[in-house]
Amino acid sequence: MKDSILTILRSLLPAGTPVDVSVPEQETFGHYSTNVAMRLASVKGAKKAGATPMAVAQELAVKIEAAAPAGFFEKIEAAAPGFVNFWLSKKTLQEEFKKVFSDKNYGRSESGKKKTVIVEYSSPNIAKILNVGHLRNTIIGESLANIFEFSGYTVIRWNYLGDWGTQFGKLIAAYRQWGDKKAVMKNPIEALQKLYVRFHEETKSDPELERRGQEEFKKLEGGDKENRKLWKWFREESIKELKRSYKALGVDFDVWTGESFFENEMKPVVRELCERGIAERSEGAMVIKLDAFNLPPALIEKSDGASLYLTRDIANLRYRLKKYKPAKILYVIGNEQSFQFEQLFAVAKVLKLDSAELRHVKYGLVRGESGKKLSTREGRTVSMNEILGKAVALAKEAVQKKNAELSEKEKNEIAEAVGIGAVKYNDLKENRMTDIVFNWERMLAFTGDSGPYLQYTYARMRSILRKSGYAERDAKDAGRDFAALDGDAALALMRKLFEFPDAVKKSNELLMTSPLADYLYKFASVANKFYETTPILKDENESRRQARLTLIETAARVLKTGLGLLGIQAPEKI
Ligand code: ARG
Repeated sequence: MKDSILTILRSLLPAGTPVDVSVPEQETFGHYSTNVAMRLASVKGAKKAGATPMAVAQELAVKIEAAAPAGFFEKIEAAAPGFVNFWLSKKTLQEEFKKVFSDKNYGRSESGKKKTVIVEYSSPNIAKILNVGHLRNTIIGESLANIFEFSGYTVIRWNYLGDWGTQFGKLIAAYRQWGDKKAVMKNPIEALQKLYVRFHEETKSDPELERRGQEEFKKLEGGDKENRKLWKWFREESIKELKRSYKALGVDFDVWTGESFFENEMKPVVRELCERGIAERSEGAMVIKLDAFNLPPALIEKSDGASLYLTRDIANLRYRLKKYKPAKILYVIGNEQSFQFEQLFAVAKVLKLDSAELRHVKYGLVRGESGKKLSTREGRTVSMNEILGKAVALAKEAVQKKNAELSEKEKNEIAEAVGIGAVKYNDLKENRMTDIVFNWERMLAFTGDSGPYLQYTYARMRSILRKSGYAERDAKDAGRDFAALDGDAALALMRKLFEFPDAVKKSNELLMTSPLADYLYKFASVANKFYETTPILKDENESRRQARLTLIETAARVLKTGLGLLGIQAPEKI
């Protein structure tokens, strides 16, 4: 819809004039509105000629009226201080709806055609329990990946595992001393984390341990068979368990290449950068000076010859650019690593590893209702599994009350979808840069700006369709007469539908899920209003009844697609 208006506008404006139309919050300011007149009036020539923004807007309004196809607009008005507001005619809305209804891929775009984007997310350190921070990371990354895919990009979902570093030497030392094979097999991540924690506690009284940890890592790096075997086993068991958590979240990755993959490249990379005069020795260590970027030097090799997290990221970047030729790489990782990425991106410029747009997709903390960092009663950070478990259990209680007649299996499935959907939506609706708050009650409420509310709206619409015997999209649909869709609530719902592609686009461009989530919430409210105020099943006029059902079917479909982009399921019943 927006595009049709833009086309008319562009045909009237000097070539290249930047112009956009937006949807005002209130209908009294038009279905759509543009501020282009104010922009035109501010250019030099116009000012001299004494053209006020309002005068330009009035003149433009008249021209648009004349240029638009007959009956396209219901009304065009200039409004102070220089807006042009448009109201579309019912016929235009109905015709547009017909297009939306018959477009099975509505909202999908080709803007990323032939472009690859690497979305790196989740990226936990293995042998460590996933916490609420990883949960944010995984939820945000997955949704952005979905949105890019929907916008036509080829998406590589990359889980960059933290699977290398001295901590694995420590883990091996700890396992040799206190390890229990069966415990690791049974509950790998928990058992390994316990070993790691014990190692740290015991080093306080036994400093010798620290040295042993370093030694084990040296051996691991040197290719020692036994240590390699242990490390590989820890890694595999961790991945198995990670996959179970990801499955619960409905998340999957194309690439699991982690830090260890780049280990053999560390020495050659450092040597090469040194030879090219890019890296230099400073107090025994190897650094890349970043004065030109107003940043402290990037440390790429410690004085003891050990490589660093940053060095692995440099090798990783080079590998990605060469292998995938991406247009963009998104690094989804918390605010606290901002400095690391400022340095990495500066190094990328120095090394001319600049063929892709590099973006640090940051996010804030998760806080409990008290406003403090979310933690258990004992002060430990809460694990991802604990959160998901609690959300599903709370959702189960609600489903039990709402839908006692369903089978246990159905209830469990719905509870999973609702519980996990609630956690996801609670995160994705916020501007990711801010900290988010866990308020269980609000998160799981079936009213208000929540995941369950959106799912409930979808289920309500599906229930209407089931009861109506509506045959989905049968051959007659194409010839359906939508002139009967002329009530205010129906027209408002249609207009809301038309905003969907733009909401996706905005989320895609800003690398933020909140515009899409916010749109879906408003959309659900308008949809609710339609089916609550308009007789549908009881409509006695058969052709109007069919038209209304079609609107419900289309709205349900778009809502499901939008929820899908957020990684949220839409159960048929709630
Ligand atoms: N494994 C790291 C951590 O848990 C995150 C990795 C982020 N990505 C990167 N390319 N450095 O802190």
